[in-house]
Amino acid sequence: MKALVIYDSVFGNTEKVARAIGSALGADVPVKGVSAVSPADLSGVDTLLVGSPTRSFKPTPAVTDFLAALPAGTLNGVRAAAFDTRIPLDSIKNPIFRMIVKKGGYAAPIIEKALSGKGAAIAIPGDGFIVLESEGPLKEGELERAAEWARSML
Ligand SMILES: Cc1cc2nc3c(=O)[nH]c(=O)nc-3n(C[C@H](O)[C@H](O)[C@H](O)COP(=O)(O)O)c2cc1C
Repeated sequence: MKALVIYDSVFGNTEKVARAIGSALGADVPVKGVSAVSPADLSGVDTLLVGSPTRSFKPTPAVTDFLAALPAGTLNGVRAAAFDTRIPLDSIKNPIFRMIVKKGGYAAPIIEKALSGKGAAIAIPGDGFIVLESEGPLKEGELERAAEWARSML
């Protein structure tokens, strides 16, 4: 298996999740910020995990643009999975805003769609890991849950 974890992170929480995922997959699995990924990094990769903070119901522009720019079929034969970080619905006090956030959705399903659009097979359902406030911290236990989620791909 040749795995790669790609992430974006504004406040550092998604990076922590990405690193926990990388370590769970193996000691030598590279974990790269999306802006540092070159096409050569994808060469020979058969297991790809991509994560982003959820920002306005979507991945960050860097993640969206990176996936959009991959030539068609780049991910043929690759097993992939998507993850995001997000705030918990029950932390949103205003019921109207809570409903908007619930309906708006999250980054992981959008990443998943982009990954399969480039030929990847989605190996496990995407997941979202909880930050207690926009800037963090992550909810207790989320790094362990992320590691377990990633191991279910092996
Ligand atoms: C401008 C902005 C928009 C956001 N939009 C959402 C959203 O639509 N849904 C959600 O659950 N969290 C939203 N959040 C909270 C982010 O998901 C949170 O900041 C992120 O998970 C932290 O990850 P990071 O530390 O890797 O940047 C938003 C935060 C900001 C600052």
